[in-house]
Amino acid sequence: MRLIFILLSFFSLQANASSTDELVKLLDSKLSTSTSFEEAITSGKERAWVCKFCHGEDGNSTRDNIPNLASQNPKYLLRQFELFATKQRYDKTMTELATSLTAEDRVNIIIYYSTQLVKNRTTSNQILNNSGKEKYNLQCSSCHGNDGYGKELLPRLAGQSNQYLINTLNNYKTNPSKRPDSPMQSIVTTLASQDIEELAEYISTMK
Ligand code: HEC
Ligand code: HEC
Repeated sequence: MRLIFILLSFFSLQANASSTDELVKLLDSKLSTSTSFEEAITSGKERAWVCKFCHGEDGNSTRDNIPNLASQNPKYLLRQFELFATKQRYDKTMTELATSLTAEDRVNIIIYYSTQLVKNRTTSNQILNNSGKEKYNLQCSSCHGNDGYGKELLPRLAGQSNQYLINTLNNYKTNPSKRPDSPMQSIVTTLASQDIEELAEYISTMK
């Protein structure tokens, strides 16, 4: 891991202090024409070499406790990068990475990952999966969508890593300072660990 950081600081300039508004403008302008969109994907793929050790080359994570980035909504990804960079969302590795990438690189990597496809997972426990589906449709679909694709700043959940979902939902509950000011904090108060297991099982197999 140390080697990754040494290489990263060698190759990249210090991130420019860009405001979130400027980053969103940059993202929108790259999404608006097919040429700038294609260029962003090519350059983002190149710059994602450091990310792929954990999030996978195609955005399907290499370990079950690391989130997929594939098909994630670009505005949500951009927002999370800002939160890591300003330590409003806390993860040591991600904060170091977020502050060492230029605005241009962040946006290109995000566009690249958002265009990749999530690999489908199958369930090993249909009973758990069915209970999860019922709970999801009742308590989660109003924001994350019936299909689990989310929208804009609402994250896609469909196909997300099972263990990452469990850890994240537990953290909203017991370690709120990791992601403060999140609407998720009041939602998880009613979830018992059995509910979390069922939800994660169903969500990770949504296509
Ligand atoms: C050493 C492993 C590692 C590397 C390398 C890494 N990440 Fe992460 N990333 C993580 C972990 C672990 C999390 C989840 C942190 C948490 O629990 O909040 C994460 C979370 C994220 C999130 C939030 C996703 C979500 O669903 O909320 C984004 C965006 C992200 N990483 C982007 C990147 C990008 C882009 C790179 C490359 C520049 C990168 N990461 C490199 C481990 C890594
Ligand atoms: C009122 C709208 C709302 C409802 C209802 C809701 N969520 Fe969320 N959820 C959000 C928002 C907004 C975020 C992103 C905020 C953040 O970063 O904490 C989020 C984030 C998440 C994340 C983190 C995603 C990631 O990639 O890190 C998970 C997991 C999650 N929600 C699961 C659920 C589950 C399971 C339910 C139902 C029990 C649910 N949500 C209901 C609004 C909602």
